[in-house]
Amino acid sequence: MSQNHKITPSPRLAIIGLGYVGLPLARLFATKFPVVGFDINQKRIDELNAGKDNTLEIEVDVLQKVLVKSPSDANGLFCSANLEDIKDCNYYVVTVPTPVDKNNRPDLTPLYKSSETVGRVLKKGDIVIYESTVYPGVTEEECVPVLERVSGLKFNVDFFAGYSPERINPGDKEHTVEKILKVTAGSTPEIGKKVDDLYKTVITAGTHLAPTIKVAEAAKVIENSQRDINIAFVNELAKIFNLLDINTHDVLEAAGTKWNFLPFKPGLVGGHCIGVDPYYLAQKAQEKGYHPEIILAGRRLNDSMGEYVAAQVVKCMIKKGVTVNGAQLLMLGITFKENCPDVRNTKIVDVIASLKEYGIQVSIYDPWANPAEVKHEYKIESTKEIPNQKFDAVVLGVSHKEFLQLDIPSLQKENSVLYDVKGILGNNVDGKL
Ligand SMILES: NC(=O)c1ccc[n+]([C@@H]2O[C@H](COP(=O)([O-])OP(=O)(O)OC[C@H]3O[C@@H](n4cnc5c(N)ncnc54)[C@H](O)[C@@H]3O)[C@@H](O)[C@H]2O)c1
Repeated sequence: MSQNHKITPSPRLAIIGLGYVGLPLARLFATKFPVVGFDINQKRIDELNAGKDNTLEIEVDVLQKVLVKSPSDANGLFCSANLEDIKDCNYYVVTVPTPVDKNNRPDLTPLYKSSETVGRVLKKGDIVIYESTVYPGVTEEECVPVLERVSGLKFNVDFFAGYSPERINPGDKEHTVEKILKVTAGSTPEIGKKVDDLYKTVITAGTHLAPTIKVAEAAKVIENSQRDINIAFVNELAKIFNLLDINTHDVLEAAGTKWNFLPFKPGLVGGHCIGVDPYYLAQKAQEKGYHPEIILAGRRLNDSMGEYVAAQVVKCMIKKGVTVNGAQLLMLGITFKENCPDVRNTKIVDVIASLKEYGIQVSIYDPWANPAEVKHEYKIESTKEIPNQKFDAVVLGVSHKEFLQLDIPSLQKENSVLYDVKGILGNNVDGKL
């Protein structure tokens, strides 16, 4: 008997928020169950119904294969911005953003709003599973009260909750959602088992049922905080070794020969996970009267790296006799990470802003980023075309696969500086992080 038949009643899922996390999950569940993908962004819904995923996570043919024409169709994915279309579902999976505000405080607005949406259609017996990254307590203390208020139903009597953090890595075609072991949890032991069984039907890597929702919430937020702190440590090492005139990458390679040395590399920590989630944990700790030292020190260090990289580039230019003020510089890459079109919270813009303060004119070439989005988010121009000019300096900011094939010298003036933020161009560069 297949896993699907064990779950009663038979799941009809609504995935709330069809972004980098929600769409791959909706597509995956749609191979086994009827799924309605719900999003407030009508443009996103129209594009998805036409088989187009602008996040480039799901290939056109893979998406088209699961799309169905009506929410009442059998297994398959129906995308909609209409509340009516999710009213017959019995599992609601919430995958909306969890950003921070300008003071780096958690902004739970999308979670409150999407919980209101679900509350309007919630029925007896339904299970609402949150996947968004949060601090421990958000599901039961922040979202559930909204569900109760809007639906008039009672938690753990009429309806139930679950939490299953997402661990995908956008742009990574190897570790796709079904291949990453998934942590699950429920608001009662019985619901935990039910949530776990649901994910087991599609996650081939298996699941780990955590004892409580708070444990599962905490597990996710520390995964990303651990990464942030480890990167901050190697960023600090890079600053020290630059002062000592030692190649950081050589040091890391040598130290990495010990069995328990962790293989982190220095870099810019952007995006809306690693650079954001530690603030969620810090906020909760502060609420309870504990001021986290290591977590916030890591954040401060990583947030300062853009300015540091710019200063390093300028030093290289001065050493080579390149006039800094008015120099033409090419930035290779603007997205927050390689082989992914996401430009949100990219730290390359910190490097660019700093370079501009030195009077440097920066051009940006990124074959992945949408120039309209870059303009909208940061008011700066970028291009998807290789520039037809030569520059006083070139900075490799993001390791998109296209840059590994790029003839960089053809973009450089004589005596031009080449700086490698990602440490992928070997030793034939003027500087690297
Ligand atoms: N992107 C990642 O690498 C990643 C990995 C693991 C976990 N996460 C976490 O998953 C969550 C979602 O992240 P994402 O990258 O998919 O975000 P995203 O911005 O790509 O997508 C979120 C989607 O939710 C929609 N949305 C916003 N408010 C809504 C509402 N009230 N109702 C319905 N839809 C709404 C948006 O229109 C958007 O399409 C976040 O908590 C994030 O921290 C992200």
